[in-house]
Amino acid sequence: MTTSHGSEPKALTACVPWQQLRLLASQIGDKGAREMFGSEMERAERLSRVPFEDLVVDFSKQPVDDEILKVLLALAEERGISAAIAQMFAGEPINVTEGRAALHVALRMPKHASAMVEGEDVIPAVHAMRARVSAFVEGVRSGAIVAADGGAFTDVVNIGIGGSDLGPRMVTEALAPYVTGGPRVHFVSNVDGWDLTSTLAGLDPRRTMVVVVSKTFITQETMTNAHAAHAWLVDGNGRDAEGLERHLVAVTACEKRAVHFGAVPSQTFGMWDWVGGRYSLWSSVGISIALAVGMDYFDSLLEGGREMDEHFRHTPLDKNVPVLAAMIGIWNSNFLGAHTHAVLPYDERLRLMPAYLQQADMESNGKSTRLDGSRIEDTQTGPVVWGAVGTNGQHAFFQLLHQGTRTVPADFLVAANADHGLDKHHEILVAHALAQSQALMVGRDAAAARAVVEEEGDDVSIASHRIFGGNRPSTTMLYKRLTPQTLGRLIAFYEHKIFVQGRVWGVNSFDQWGVELGKTLAKELLPAVQGGAVPADADASTRHLLGHLRRMRSKA
Ligand code: F6P
Repeated sequence: MTTSHGSEPKALTACVPWQQLRLLASQIGDKGAREMFGSEMERAERLSRVPFEDLVVDFSKQPVDDEILKVLLALAEERGISAAIAQMFAGEPINVTEGRAALHVALRMPKHASAMVEGEDVIPAVHAMRARVSAFVEGVRSGAIVAADGGAFTDVVNIGIGGSDLGPRMVTEALAPYVTGGPRVHFVSNVDGWDLTSTLAGLDPRRTMVVVVSKTFITQETMTNAHAAHAWLVDGNGRDAEGLERHLVAVTACEKRAVHFGAVPSQTFGMWDWVGGRYSLWSSVGISIALAVGMDYFDSLLEGGREMDEHFRHTPLDKNVPVLAAMIGIWNSNFLGAHTHAVLPYDERLRLMPAYLQQADMESNGKSTRLDGSRIEDTQTGPVVWGAVGTNGQHAFFQLLHQGTRTVPADFLVAANADHGLDKHHEILVAHALAQSQALMVGRDAAAARAVVEEEGDDVSIASHRIFGGNRPSTTMLYKRLTPQTLGRLIAFYEHKIFVQGRVWGVNSFDQWGVELGKTLAKELLPAVQGGAVPADADASTRHLLGHLRRMRSKA
């Protein structure tokens, strides 16, 4: 079978670089970054990339030497990464199962650029939509667009889930220092009614705008929340209140559904089917970000994304930061046996980055079917992505990172400068970030452990518990300051890393069929949860649970 781009897919594990990497992995033994370093500073320099003056990506604590890196890059070439990058930017339908382009990069392109989808340049439409969003955002922020009673909007509730929530939520929180003068922005995603009720509890419906974000406008959780929030607006303002429609905004690729729901066309903002939900924060989906920080900072975010796009598109593979990160990730997971990947922002404002990347990465590459429809049985695809901010994680799961039996490759994200004025806090934070990646790589051998125990006056019998194996891989991304532009670069970096890995594994990073079965079954089970008939074909365990559920609900 051929792929959409016409070439016969090659067997990944049979190709020469893959075989060479297997051999290299079998020869590596206990050798890791620590041994590869020796005492040379030069390795740090050689294995760091500085794609922009104020962003350093240091791969030197990864278990790669020149030879391994060379073969990893040969694998990237063998898997057609350069061509894949070109295909993405050319708007080719690389999302083969849905017959679509994956052209989120077009959302970040300047007016004078062009990006073709099915023979049409989409850039004019992208900028026309951005201009509408911009006018609306400025209208709300300046007080020109007012609530039904003529007062200013003080609060915005963004209702969406998955890509219609995680990106806007993460960015809005990360850019907190840039929030000035606009309404407060809240996010509701879960169909657990607690999410909506606890959010609305503190708000005044006469001062609140509800922004319903859903690419499809049929997602059950979002529509359930949207209907309830709309009812709350109607109750609080009066059904016939003139201007009530200004309290409701819709963002969707399906305007008809939004208008049917009750949004007016002037407050309905579009996106396109060639933008995947988890890649959509750069589109109208980011309207809540813009409402919080204003259009100028939103534009800076896009600019940062664009800069990373340019780097990704035009930089040779050996200097290309997303490509290197992707290939080193493949080395760790496919050849050295790592199953997970930890994202460790030493930056409180990036608290939600791990959750954001869980969708970006796991919904993209958590697949076991190749582009050509065949099953993947001979290798692993996307890792489990997880993480938490430092230093909190140190007091929770770092024990396992340092001394557990599993190797967990990690990304440390560190800002050189803070925005809060508590310099000493920041210095301590950064020292911890550096110390953790240092400890993970350097470890502590038996002799050193014994010396520590003796010095502390403890029984030497516990010395073995104080050994750190070391050689636990990590990448450090050090940036000058978490500006909107820097954040844009970081997000685009991860998007491209994910794309490269997906291409190497030969999966479609842009569909998400794996979320469908559960959705269908939930619809079938809802009547049973509500007391109706239990589906005859439900499995015995589910029927058993439904039995107990009904018993408990009837006595509630
Ligand atoms: O269920 C998965 C998913 O389709 C995600 O890919 C998407 O981001 C999310 O649901 C929300 O979808 P929508 O924006 O259409 O409501």
